[in-house]
Amino acid sequence: MSEENSIAIEVINVFKEFRRLNIKSPTSLKSRIINILKGKEKLKKKDKFLVLDDISFNINKGEAFGIMGRNGAGKSTLLKLIAGIIVPTRGTIKVRGKLTPLLELGSGFHPELTGRENILINGLILGLSKKEITSLYDQIIDFSELRDVIDQPIRTYSSGMYVRLAFSIAMNVNPDIILLDEVLAVGDAEFSKKSKAKIVEFKKKGKTMILVSHDPNSIVEVCDNGLFLEHGRVAFLGNSADVASKYKAIV
Ligand SMILES: Nc1ncnc2c1ncn2[C@@H]1O[C@H](COP(=O)(O)OP(=O)(O)OP(=O)(O)O)[C@@H](O)[C@H]1O
Ligand SMILES: [Mg+2]
Repeated sequence: MSEENSIAIEVINVFKEFRRLNIKSPTSLKSRIINILKGKEKLKKKDKFLVLDDISFNINKGEAFGIMGRNGAGKSTLLKLIAGIIVPTRGTIKVRGKLTPLLELGSGFHPELTGRENILINGLILGLSKKEITSLYDQIIDFSELRDVIDQPIRTYSSGMYVRLAFSIAMNVNPDIILLDEVLAVGDAEFSKKSKAKIVEFKKKGKTMILVSHDPNSIVEVCDNGLFLEHGRVAFLGNSADVASKYKAIV
């Protein structure tokens, strides 16, 4: 394998800027928005803020990569960029392989549809045929342990039940790369344990993953290497045990 082919994800000098109007009172916000819409006023430099500031790293195929950092450090934004849900302001991201993101709670679910219908829609979005999805129903439903409620609308599910279903779909559609944003923290202890085992099994198959977590033990247990983000910057890049201890030192 050439060096390039062994890399699953390349993040090269990535910057992400968001806009946040700088205002002092609600009335001035309203008048500023109106002025901006009318073209009377331009967005000022101070209205933009940098959420990710020059991020670069590679993840090899078969590697489990952990991302840690305080709330608001930019972890979920980075995963969304890698998933292609949002685009960087500057910089390049290359992904080799079929990627399945498991990001914010229940994103991609339709509340009025049943669990079973949502499995179908999610599967189609992830690029599977109807036949392939049908053949995976039992596997997905059994892992989620939601058989009793699978034909009920998703809006009646608890947040833990949402995550069970989303995790079961993501892990059973056979992706090459999986992105997991704080998935282990939402289920109950038993499901967390089962999820961790599934993640380890996934890794043993030579698959690539990124795990965002606030739990240093999960990062050390599951990941090879990782990244510690502070205010959108790479504060540390290296093996997962060091990432976890850097994080422990600040919280
Ligand atoms: N769509 C958006 N528009 C404007 N600002 C945003 C947007 N999404 C995120 N932000 C801001 O970007 C920063 C990073 O957010 P992000 O969700 O990436 O943090 P995080 O590291 O995942 O935090 P947490 O641990 O709380 O999940 C925060 O200041 C947040 O307010
Ligand atoms: Mg987040």
